[in-house]
Amino acid sequence: MQPITKITAEEILDSRGKPTVMSTVWAGDFSGSFSVPSGASTGSNEAHELRDLDGHVLQTIRNITETITPKLLGTDASDQAGIDAVMCSLDGTADKSHLGGNAMLAVSAAAARAAAASKGVELWQYLRTLAQIEPSRRVPYLYMNYINGGKHAKSPLSFQEHIIVPDTESVAEAMTMATDIGNALQKIIADRYGVEFAQSMGDEGGYVIPEHDPIVPFEVLSQASGNAGHHGKIRLATDIAASSFYENGMYRVGEELWDTAKMTIFYHDLAKRFPILSIEDPFEEHALADFAALQKDFELRIVGDDLTVTNTTLIEQAAEASAIRAVIIKPNQIGTLTETFAAMHTARTHDIDCIVSHRSGETDDTFIADLAYATGAFGLKAGALRKPERMVKYQRLLDISVQ
Ligand code: PGA
Ligand code: ZN
Repeated sequence: MQPITKITAEEILDSRGKPTVMSTVWAGDFSGSFSVPSGASTGSNEAHELRDLDGHVLQTIRNITETITPKLLGTDASDQAGIDAVMCSLDGTADKSHLGGNAMLAVSAAAARAAAASKGVELWQYLRTLAQIEPSRRVPYLYMNYINGGKHAKSPLSFQEHIIVPDTESVAEAMTMATDIGNALQKIIADRYGVEFAQSMGDEGGYVIPEHDPIVPFEVLSQASGNAGHHGKIRLATDIAASSFYENGMYRVGEELWDTAKMTIFYHDLAKRFPILSIEDPFEEHALADFAALQKDFELRIVGDDLTVTNTTLIEQAAEASAIRAVIIKPNQIGTLTETFAAMHTARTHDIDCIVSHRSGETDDTFIADLAYATGAFGLKAGALRKPERMVKYQRLLDISVQ
């Protein structure tokens, strides 16, 4: 038993320069910190991210220091379920709007780090014992978003993410392949769009290109894989994030309006032409039947993110409708680690793979790399190897996967 002796919280900046909260939990001489990321294309059912009217997180910090801390002092740092239950009952809302999902997750994840430290084990080892998730892979696939669109870039591309997935179990090899492809891609972009776009940078570290046609990013990634000598060793994936450009029953793709049928035809064409591993949020977040119809046509994985928001009930619904074969796991969508594990359990019970994911507003925190490895996740989705807050997550996965 290592009782919690102190909890602190402070405001830091995320990768977009926006305030976010970091908390540190102490158990005697041991401590652990966690800083909370922030999304831009958020699902409407996500846990509430509490912010002051001016965008700061001072109330969130007060909720940690004045409301949560007094109730948790003396609690065993390794009683994760107990810690999370106390916060959920203190909050008392369905969407965590009273304390803020960001306040709760900061403490929840920091407590796990403090507990791991007090036991003298790596975070992933501690999380593995705690979570007991049925693994999909020994080492997750690296989902690396090299062309950014949608809400993550000032670009005419409506689809949010164009992702390369090195087809290997070696993180070192995957990172080398991604670096080579990134360099080849930079040359292609310079030739095709001009040198100014070769330095472009979206929120998740991908390039931003002046392109309307949604098929072109996949052609370009495929060409870059070939130029880098990795043809045949790369799968492609995409996060359409369709809710973010859905208006009045139609999808605004570039300058056109597409209906569900046109979107579906696009996905069939995409899967015919490229080695697509998965398609995330192909339709808006309420279109469960459309997800199911598309998944029925495909071997590849249709992935829920805004559809499921790391929420056990929504994952259960998607599973029952056979709407997805993989699900995005983002701890800050639900607000505590215990509920994150519950969501992963539910997914695995239905043979749905988990892809642990960063947010578009990130920090240098590497917790998700440990989480992905600990739970044998199918994928770790953490952007491109072009921004430090993304690189540290892959680097952490590399470090722990060779231990
Ligand atoms: P977000 O996007 O972090 O901006 O919500 C990531 C995603 O949609 O997967
Ligand atoms: Zn998504």
